[in-house]
Amino acid sequence: MRFATIRAEDKKVILLDQTALPEKTVYNSYTDYCDMIEAIKRLEVRGAPAIGIAAAYTLALAAETRVDITLDQLRKVMIDVACEVKNARPTAMNLFWGVDRVMAAAQKYNGDSLDEYRHLFWGEADAILEEDKAMCQAIGLHGAGLLPDRCTILTHCNAGALATGGIGTALGVIYTAAEMGKQITVYADETRPLLQGARLTCWELMQNGIDVTLITDSMAGYLMSLAKIDAVIVGADRITNNGDVANKIGTYSLAVLAGVHNIPFYVAAPASTFDLKMDHGLEIPIEQRRAEEVTCGFGKRTAPEGVKVFNPAFDMTPHELVSAYITDTGVRPGGRK
Ligand code: MRU
Repeated sequence: MRFATIRAEDKKVILLDQTALPEKTVYNSYTDYCDMIEAIKRLEVRGAPAIGIAAAYTLALAAETRVDITLDQLRKVMIDVACEVKNARPTAMNLFWGVDRVMAAAQKYNGDSLDEYRHLFWGEADAILEEDKAMCQAIGLHGAGLLPDRCTILTHCNAGALATGGIGTALGVIYTAAEMGKQITVYADETRPLLQGARLTCWELMQNGIDVTLITDSMAGYLMSLAKIDAVIVGADRITNNGDVANKIGTYSLAVLAGVHNIPFYVAAPASTFDLKMDHGLEIPIEQRRAEEVTCGFGKRTAPEGVKVFNPAFDMTPHELVSAYITDTGVRPGGRK
């Protein structure tokens, strides 16, 4: 990859500002954990695995914040900070997973050095980032094996390098297949209202030399009816025990369309996206976002002032519509017959 979505250096966290893409490639450096929480909320860093990594680094920054503090006091502060970070966005499992994992590691610390305690947060966040890279590689390999030598993939939102610490999940499969010499072409849904498909997926696929064609979300069904799509691959924000999937709004419609047209519908996700405590997708909290994202996207008013708006950021795809889950440990069958 020619860019780093998220990295840490000298107790600073550096984010590629995804709100500026594709126009500008801007890197912002963070030392204040509250600013990082805001960056997560305004989608400067987004995509479930990247949010999990960002959450872990947010805790590392928070642990550095207080100077005149005892270890016991800092331990208590960190419990409150963990709650604050968890409140940043409600749907992606990886955020909760990242916070819980770092806090569990910190709780195990039984020394008496503030420096060691603080260092532990950075170490765990770095480990999460490295493991995410490895999980993306594994997902890529498992998924690429499913694809024929020549194929056209439809994807939604951005489940690529910009959404993870590595090569991505859904796009990781595409990069790996292309690297194996398979001829892969991609259609990317623009992904209303925030255009993660148009702005981010098209940008990163083009950066990496993958043939990509942009469509608006409403064109997907027609494209499938023309037999132009061999498989749909999307990422996930949370997968419950029964296999239901929360992902970017519009994913459910794609899964229904793929079923009707007998096109495989694959969900690519690492272990950190699976919520083993939740049985059913209907329990997943779905983030509702500001009306202006729909009525006044990117500063251009496209609906009358005062109109009522429904703006869920995610939807839930029942497991019956999923052909298979491409995970870091292998391919698991979905519930679609
Ligand atoms: O609102 P976003 O941009 O964070 O939504 C991202 C998605 O829905 C992705 O498809 C999902 O997080 C998987 S990323 C590998």
